[in-house]
Amino acid sequence: MLSQQDLKEQAAEAALQYIAPMLTKDAVIGVGTGSTADLFIDGLARYRTQFRAAVASSERSAKRLTEAGILVLDLNQVETMPVYVDGADEINAKLHMIKGGGGALTREKIVASVAREFVCIADESKLVEHLGRFPLPIEVLPIARQAVARVIASLGGKPVLREGFVTDNGNQILDVSGLTISDACALEQQLNNLPGVVTNGLFAMRGADVALLATQSGIRKL
Ligand code: A5P
Repeated sequence: MLSQQDLKEQAAEAALQYIAPMLTKDAVIGVGTGSTADLFIDGLARYRTQFRAAVASSERSAKRLTEAGILVLDLNQVETMPVYVDGADEINAKLHMIKGGGGALTREKIVASVAREFVCIADESKLVEHLGRFPLPIEVLPIARQAVARVIASLGGKPVLREGFVTDNGNQILDVSGLTISDACALEQQLNNLPGVVTNGLFAMRGADVALLATQSGIRKL
């Protein structure tokens, strides 16, 4: 029986195999945040001479990439990336995701938007039929916290401030449980339209293009 850690390592390894043909001396790779993305970074170090640089979706990943000897560029220095690789807190069969358990959702969504392909790596526990059991993270400007929380409560959600946490962008996170997510694209847009919301953790309008999910019987590709 493989542990969750073993499965995360297998997913990270599968992503490295998947992106290996995309590595060229000019290629810049988009890199996500989280424990699975950390394992991907560790493996990417083996390939560091085969591509130019990486763009990180968090300070945490930037530090790990730098320590692995990989050049980290600011997104403003980069026009395009062949691929963005990241984990997820939940993913469904449509490759819609909930992300932001690590609080890096805004930069994740921005970096992913510049990449041609989004590769989601996860252990099979992240695959769900319906999104929403994992509380949906919403990054808010501190001044808007209560105003946004009231609107979310009126939609049936239960917002909880992530205590003691400040995002890389200097904002706060509301973790929202109890929302019914029947149309993830519509909800993603509705939440992003609330004044003071920076980003919400639904990645549906731009979901993953490929998911490499590690199971007890090998990698399942969606
Ligand atoms: C970070 O903000 C998140 O979006 C992560 O991608 C997500 O939480 C997955 O993390 P793990 O790989 O640690 O489960």
